[in-house]
Amino acid sequence: MNNLEKLQKLKEETDAVILAHYYVDGEIQKVADFVGDSFFLAQTAEKLENKTIVMAGVYFMAESVKILNPDKKVLLVDKCASCPMVDMITVDEIERVRSENEDIAVVCYINSSAKIKAHCDVCVTSSNALKIIESLPEKNIFFVPDRNLGSYIAKNVQDKNIILNDGCCPVHDKVSADVVKKLKKEHPNAKVLAHPECKSEVIELADFVGSTKGIILEADSDSHEFIIVTEKGISSKLSELYPEKTFYYIDDFICDDMKLLTMEKLIHTLEFSENEVEVDKEIAKKAIVPLERMLKLGAK
Ligand code: 13P
Ligand code: SF4
Repeated sequence: MNNLEKLQKLKEETDAVILAHYYVDGEIQKVADFVGDSFFLAQTAEKLENKTIVMAGVYFMAESVKILNPDKKVLLVDKCASCPMVDMITVDEIERVRSENEDIAVVCYINSSAKIKAHCDVCVTSSNALKIIESLPEKNIFFVPDRNLGSYIAKNVQDKNIILNDGCCPVHDKVSADVVKKLKKEHPNAKVLAHPECKSEVIELADFVGSTKGIILEADSDSHEFIIVTEKGISSKLSELYPEKTFYYIDDFICDDMKLLTMEKLIHTLEFSENEVEVDKEIAKKAIVPLERMLKLGAK
């Protein structure tokens, strides 16, 4: 039996569905039932009927799936696949900022832990942050943990005071404006598509800023060449969807955590029902509130 047949058999035996993020290996994206950005994965997870949900992504994604599906078995392909940004904010810091400001909402990027979500008012992803924050009644917004996405929001929403936290995605944050400028010089006709987890100096050079899904949709525009300023895993979907177009990527733009996942680990996880993700019931009861609020406000 080859890997594909084995996987299919295991999926049937365990009534499993596989969700994958665009940053994981292309081989895994090909066998997944649903591939998407963080918002799409959360939206999809809420509607699934299967008994077992396998997350091919990082820990906070599986944790969010479990919070939205407390009665289902949620497996993560590699339990060591984490997102370092998740630990760049503390509950104490949230409580300190809350106590020092009136008329405040605490908004957390979905790249945060269940414990942090439990102390926030609403969750967002890079695909819906502007829309959701604009719809909030509060004037002051403490945005955690990503200072880069927070700065992007501050520049693009009207009439809000965005309070930033000093966290970031180390993978996106390390890209410099010089690297993007060099690529632009080499490929003057290419459109620059960037993820808002990048630094402001990089965002300023972009023709389009959006989530991974937003970038994939934007590549459907009239242009034929694109400079892609996000994690290289997105290349599988871009070349599958637009084989006639040319994409330029940034060297070493790799999330090591996403790359921990392999086809062999995916099969092993399902075969032995390993890496089950659990969330403390009290925390989950609170953390589901901002997640569901995001699903409601983000879908409007
Ligand atoms: P999106 O897929 O929502 O754009 O998020 C990118 C990311 O960094 C996931 O960890
Ligand atoms: Fe976290 Fe950045 Fe990796 Fe996304 S790309 S999982 S934000 S470290």
